[in-house]
Amino acid sequence: MKLNETKPRIAVFISGGGSNLQSIIDATKCGILSAQVALVVSNRKKAYGLQRAANENIETLVFKHKKYASPEEAGEALLKELRACEIEFIALAGYLSLLPATVVRAYHDRIANIHPALLPKYGGKGMYGHYVHEAVLAAGDTESGPSVHIVDEIYDNGRVLAQTRVAVLPDDTPDTLAARVLEQEHKLYPRVLQKLIKGEYDLD
Ligand code: GRF
Repeated sequence: MKLNETKPRIAVFISGGGSNLQSIIDATKCGILSAQVALVVSNRKKAYGLQRAANENIETLVFKHKKYASPEEAGEALLKELRACEIEFIALAGYLSLLPATVVRAYHDRIANIHPALLPKYGGKGMYGHYVHEAVLAAGDTESGPSVHIVDEIYDNGRVLAQTRVAVLPDDTPDTLAARVLEQEHKLYPRVLQKLIKGEYDLD
């Protein structure tokens, strides 16, 4: 029997570089996160995160919602894949597609997302990547930071589980701010996932 066979199986959903995916994988290796990344799902075939998964011998799935006639059909197909892989928790990490409602309902309170701003500020459809940091700078905010929240059927809407605050500096650009926030994302997300898996949040 493999050592990690009894650990909860997580699927990490990505669309891009997957640095958060890497921090989650690393956390499973050093004991910060007592779980197994069993599947990496991407909506983009070229996402570098898929390479990270391959490097770690983690199963991958490229899932294209548009291949299906309706969101319901896409949801059923995705759910089938997740169940076949015995996935218990889902971590969205830079996933730029709305998860089908069927999946959200099936994994109620077992899906988390990381967002690079202090929600409820700067969230919602179209608020991702540099758009978020540009908005923070344009508003003149003096602090920002990542939020990890439960995923429901609306973008960036579910209950916030944890946030880390970082200073916004006078000479920040969207890139420098993004880098400062990302550094904190890598520390925050695995720790929040650990608490979620352990049932340490009082969810309904
Ligand atoms: C992160 O900033 C995360 O907060 C957001 O998308 C970005 C993903 O970065 N949801 P990476 O692919 O994990 O490097």
